[in-house]
Amino acid sequence: MLEIKNLHVKLEDEDKQILKGVNLTVETGKVHAIMGPNGSGKSTLSYVLSGRDGYEVTDGEASLQGEDILDMEPEERAAAGLFLAFQYPVEIPGVGNMTFLRTAVNAQRKARGEEELSAGEFLKVVRAKAKELEIDADMLKRPVNVGFSGGEKKRNEILQMAMLEPKMCILDETDSGLDVDAMKLVAEGVNALRDAGRSFLVITHYQRLLDHIKPDVVHIMADGKIVKTGGPELALEVENNGYADILAEVA
Ligand SMILES: Nc1ncnc2c1ncn2[C@@H]1O[C@H](COP(=O)(O)OP(=O)(O)OP(=O)(O)O)[C@@H](O)[C@H]1O
Ligand SMILES: [Mg+2]
Repeated sequence: MLEIKNLHVKLEDEDKQILKGVNLTVETGKVHAIMGPNGSGKSTLSYVLSGRDGYEVTDGEASLQGEDILDMEPEERAAAGLFLAFQYPVEIPGVGNMTFLRTAVNAQRKARGEEELSAGEFLKVVRAKAKELEIDADMLKRPVNVGFSGGEKKRNEILQMAMLEPKMCILDETDSGLDVDAMKLVAEGVNALRDAGRSFLVITHYQRLLDHIKPDVVHIMADGKIVKTGGPELALEVENNGYADILAEVA
């Protein structure tokens, strides 16, 4: 599904190398988690994959279902099936949440050569999915993320994901700022989308989320590289002992 080889990335405006040779393959239908100390490059990896400005790929490659994505525009990557839930979701003043969702869903359907959803059909689907995430009708009418609480923004990201039905979902600290109940809701939202044809890359600091979203593979990222890969037990090791032992072992 997602294949990253020897990815090197620096800041565009500064001579600062952030990713220093990331190798990662996420197979179709699998859930991979990435953990790692603050500043190790986890968000940078997700930004570069989504096509955000400000970064320069100096070496390596990344492909989605065999297609090179690094030369695509962000909207082409989305149409190819990539979705990123941001660590800090953006607010879009003046654009209604519902309008935003419908425009995004229909733009992707169009790009895939499918028919657009009618207003009626769209409303029915979005209301059902919003209800599962306990997002009320008022939040659907408000401008995207404006004045939403931290947890409401995160749930709204999962609603976007549920509506877009992407093939490759990258979740950057979707659990941060969620209360215990909201985290379960978000995890259920993710689990409902788990499917043999869909893959997930879940970036998190806490084992807690992985109790709810059970990963197949856990990676540890440090200083711009994946330094260790294992099963769910690796997340437990981090929870209990922090990163010191793992980093000493690979140094
Ligand atoms: N625009 C930028 N200007 C300067 N430094 C940057 C910029 N973007 C990223 N960095 C640096 O790159 C490193 C990696 O940042 P990144 O946000 O990817 O870390 P992270 O692993 O997601 O951390 P966290 O767990 O705290 O979210 C950090 O040292 C950060 O300061
Ligand atoms: Mg981050």
